[in-house]
Amino acid sequence: MSEHFRVHGGARLVGEVDVVGAKNSVLKLMAAALLAEGTTRLTNCPEILDVPLMADVLRGLGCTVDIDRDVVTITTPTELSHRADFASMGKLRASVCVLGPLVGRLRKAVVALPGGDAIGSRPLDMHQNGLRLLGAHSEIEHGCVVAEAEGLHGAQIWLDFPSVGATENILMAAVLADGTTVIDNAAREPEIVDVCTMLQQMGAKIEGAGTSTLTVHGVDSLRPTEHRVIGDRIVGATWAMAAAMTRGDVRVHGVDPHHLDLVLEKLRTAGAEVSLFQDGFRVVMAGRPHSVDFVTLPYPGFATDLQPFAVALAAVSDGVSMITENVFEARFRFIEEMVRLGADARTDGHHAVIRGVDRLSSAPVWASDIRAGAGLVLAGLCADGVTEVWDVFHIDRGYPCFVENLRKLGADVERVSAPPER
Ligand code: UD1
Repeated sequence: MSEHFRVHGGARLVGEVDVVGAKNSVLKLMAAALLAEGTTRLTNCPEILDVPLMADVLRGLGCTVDIDRDVVTITTPTELSHRADFASMGKLRASVCVLGPLVGRLRKAVVALPGGDAIGSRPLDMHQNGLRLLGAHSEIEHGCVVAEAEGLHGAQIWLDFPSVGATENILMAAVLADGTTVIDNAAREPEIVDVCTMLQQMGAKIEGAGTSTLTVHGVDSLRPTEHRVIGDRIVGATWAMAAAMTRGDVRVHGVDPHHLDLVLEKLRTAGAEVSLFQDGFRVVMAGRPHSVDFVTLPYPGFATDLQPFAVALAAVSDGVSMITENVFEARFRFIEEMVRLGADARTDGHHAVIRGVDRLSSAPVWASDIRAGAGLVLAGLCADGVTEVWDVFHIDRGYPCFVENLRKLGADVERVSAPPER
């Protein structure tokens, strides 16, 4: 059934919102459960579409997975399959994170190339090179990554770019390799730190989590554990940007505010008053935001996942902003939809120049990925009239209770289920 959101423009978002566990953590933590035979329990999991999709990937490998609201329980058998087929893998990008654990535990994996957001080219060369350096043979065959190793040994690995997925896959293979692995130019995202914390609880020996050099001393086996997923900084930042765009006043709980240091500093520059508390922050924007430039970079830089919100904020700010996208080139497709809403924006390569307008103008628009979808909803709040946002299944993949939370903050937004076509 086709669904869309009807967004009535004009609301100022005011109130409190709770953020739960991070999508980009929980999916990797679920994959990490493959490394230990027995029952792993994850709490504070977000109730989003990607969690049951990842559960299907694990079930296909032989695990039992139970999802009870925010608790995901995974029982990993002794006899694990090394084959993850396209039927389950095709629906989400993070499914590729089973590659490292399977190679670590079984020394072999056949993993269908994953699906996920259409945000630009997403090769796996760094994942494969890392596994090769650990001693695995790895090729792409018939739409699958095929990896096989006689034995895995520690290695020195330099990544060309601090890729989140490559760091995670190499890390999750290296924890069960013989000897010491050093991953240099590793990704430093808080979600990587979360994976390291859980692996350490499982008995892995890892140094340098949160830095660009990860040192992993391989161990013979790992044990299952219980772990609380860290709060979703991208969802937290979405609410921060929403408060700024709608000239609102929003308190966000459930996220480490220091994971958003740069975002919150940008919002201060745009004119917001920001205060921090232990489990969150408050953003108050009294007038029209001032224009601010944004440059996307790996953490601790400004996250590419937040680029659509930067564009949407710039579109209603006072002045001209330049947004530079350095991570996923196709993410500027979002700007075409913003132009439908009356944004004054043009792109040149990986730069976008946006001249803020006082008010956007409602239109039907289409979400192309999770964050672009959420960005269009927020832009719709700053538009005259009623904006229809289509393809909202993207938003459901990453934002639990998005419409409910918006309504709680005073927005007039509804989910409309169209009748099935005859
Ligand atoms: C993860 C996040 C995604 C976020 C991204 C960057 C998940 C499920 N997704 O995606 O939301 O936008 O990090 O913060 O956690 N690259 C290569 N070769 C490789 C691997 C990556 O060239 O082998 C390139 C990519 O094309 C991209 C850049 O490296 O330009 C970063 O990608 P990466 O950090 O790997 O992103 P993901 O892990 O896919």
